[in-house]
Parts: sequence; C-alpha cells; structure tokens
Amino acid sequence: MSILVTGGCGYLGSHTCLALLEAGYDVVALDNFSNSTRASLVRVSELTGTPLKLYQCDVRNGMQLIGILEENEIEAVIHFAALKNPVESFGKPLEYYENNVGGTLTLLRVMAMKGVKKLVFSSSAAVYGKTEGQPVAEETPLCPVSPYGKTKAACEEMIAAYAASDPDFSAVVLRYFNPIGAHPSGRIGESPKQAPMNLLPRLMAAADTGAPLTVTGTDFPTPDGTGQRDYLHVCDVAQGHVLALRALEETKGVTVCNLGTGAPVSVLELIAAFERATGAKVPYELGARREGDAARSWADVTRARQLLGFAAEHTLEEACRDAWRWYCDNPEGYGEDV
Ligand SMILES: NC(=O)c1ccc[n+]([C@@H]2O[C@H](COP(=O)([O-])OP(=O)(O)OC[C@H]3O[C@@H](n4cnc5c(N)ncnc54)[C@H](O)[C@@H]3O)[C@@H](O)[C@H]2O)c1
Repeated sequence: MSILVTGGCGYLGSHTCLALLEAGYDVVALDNFSNSTRASLVRVSELTGTPLKLYQCDVRNGMQLIGILEENEIEAVIHFAALKNPVESFGKPLEYYENNVGGTLTLLRVMAMKGVKKLVFSSSAAVYGKTEGQPVAEETPLCPVSPYGKTKAACEEMIAAYAASDPDFSAVVLRYFNPIGAHPSGRIGESPKQAPMNLLPRLMAAADTGAPLTVTGTDFPTPDGTGQRDYLHVCDVAQGHVLALRALEETKGVTVCNLGTGAPVSVLELIAAFERATGAKVPYELGARREGDAARSWADVTRARQLLGFAAEHTLEEACRDAWRWYCDNPEGYGEDV
C-alpha cells in the first residue's frame, strides 16, 4: 500500500515525501509543475536511496486521477496541491477557487469512487484571519481575510461534510503556521517559480544582495512593534504528516490540528536569530504596515501534541542555518536541474 502525495514536488511536499520514505512508506507523487519541477523528487530519491513514482498530473483531472488510483494501491492521500499566495489571490480569486476548491472536490470524488478512505489535508493559519486572542486554538471561529484563506476554509468545510456522510472516511486537517528552513543536506528547499512573498526568503535575498529588507510595520501592539509569527522548521512540518498518517489508523471523522511551535517570534527577532545562526548581516529599513497583515499569530499546539504526539524539534536558529545553506548552495533553486 502506498501514500499518494499531491503537489509532491513543492516545498512542503518534497520534504514530506522524504520523511515518508524514511519512515518506510511507499510514495506515489503527482504534480502539475505549476510551481515546481521534478528535480526536487529526483533529489529526494538520491537522498533516501529509495525510488518513488511521480506522475505529471493536475489534481483537477479526474480521469487521470482515476487511472493513478487504479494503477497503484493507495491507502491514504496527502493533499498539498494548491495555489498558496494570499496577496496574489486578491487579484486572481477565481483561479484560486478553481484550483484549490475544484481540485479538492475532484480528489474527494475520485477517492470516494475508488474507496480510498484516508486523507491528510494542507490547511493554513490563514483560515483564522486577524484574531485577537493568542495563541490561536482550533476552536477559534474561522474568519479568513484573503480569497486564498477562504478557499482553505471552503475545503475544510467540504471535507467535514463528506466525512459526515461516510463513517469509514477519516481526515486530519493540518493548519500550518509559518513553515521555514530547508532539509539540513542543503539538497532540497523552497524554489518557487515567482518571487517569494514570505519573510525568510526575502530576508535572505537582502543578506545576499545588500538591498535592504523592508520591515513592514513597526507600530503593532507587540513588544518591539513588529509583527509576531510562529515559524516552524519544514522538517517538523514533514514529520507532522507522518504522525497524522499514524493518527488516521486510530481515528474516525475529521481531526483538525494546528502545526506550529507555539512560540511567537517578531520580525526583528527573526533577523537577529538569522544573523546569529549564519554570521551573515541583514540590511533592513523600517516601513509602513502592509494592508491586511495581522499583528500577531501563533499556534496553540496542545491538540497536535495530544492527538498526534507532535512537538517541534528544530530550533529557529537551525531553521535559519538550513535555509541559508540551501540558498547559498542553490543560487538558482532547482534551476534547470531535472
Ligand atoms: N508554505 C507555506 O507557508 C504554507 C503555509 C500554510 C499552508 N500551506 C499549504 O501547504 C500546501 C503546500 O504548500 P507549499 O509551500 O509546498 O507550496 P508549493 O507551491 O511549493 O507546492 C504546491 C505544489 O502543488 C503543485 N500544484 C498546484 N496546483 C496543482 C494542481 N492543480 N494539480 C497538481 N499540482 C498542483 C505545484 O506545482 C507545487 O509543486 C499548499 O496547499 C499550501 O496552501 C503552505
């Protein structure tokens, strides 16, 4: 029996495929390469010494999905494939709904048709929107701001409705906070096709080029005035999926869990941690808030600890060091390496 990983060539997908292979699972991945190349999984195979199957497939292509499920004995699906840029989603809401909600709908229909009863779904802290109370627990009412966050909330709702109709179906919904870092080998990491929007990649570009990073917002109600987030090493995110698959053996219905460290880190604290960890200097300038940015967001991790046995194992400094190693060793990301 194998695990099907949609979006397997992406940032989180590739690290999770590696963790699955290391945990002894057989992996079948699919990706439409809209934001990745097959090079990431070629390297995963090299790192683990284990082959894995990869299909070029769009998750909205139901006929091809049926074929993949007929060719392979799939026990569970981990569904990463999605568009993920909240800022971009304001300008392209229909693309986001079509890809994220449409893709999840097609996947669920094919799983139902082929009797695959276990799902791990990639959700996001974006479903909470701007919440006052911190840390954020899973019971917090969902109030997503961006079309992106709304597509994730819509998928969660669809998964819950489907699970209520089939007592044999079970799902773990993981709401990631801020994944950062890269595999310690420096061989796999984040290699987006568009300019990165997330803080650490922008911070590394500043350290590399000398063009200052703009710190967006210095008057938030936080100890140093800059926004606080919950940064989690990507290898911890990957391990969370291995634990979620194990939890699916014992649970029915839908289990929703935050994945984070439970510790808030401000922008200035992240810059300081990066400089400590790498010895590199980050030039920065103070700027105005970006519209829509929350002041603070970090996870209540009690449920993930209790239900999945999850606890983040990597420090912020390790995440910074690993991200920098990936950045320096792969200046073009995966480039044309396929
Ligand atoms: N990275 C983060 O900060 C973060 C935070 C919260 C949630 N998430 C969620 O985690 C998941 C993975 O994120 P990531 O950072 O690895 O993104 P990513 O863009 O690196 O990976 C997504 C992968 O899915 C593929 N893909 C997109 N649409 C597809 C489709 N229709 N059919 C097949 N493949 C498709 C892309 O080519 C890419 O390889 C996404 O669902 C994202 O919304 C990510």
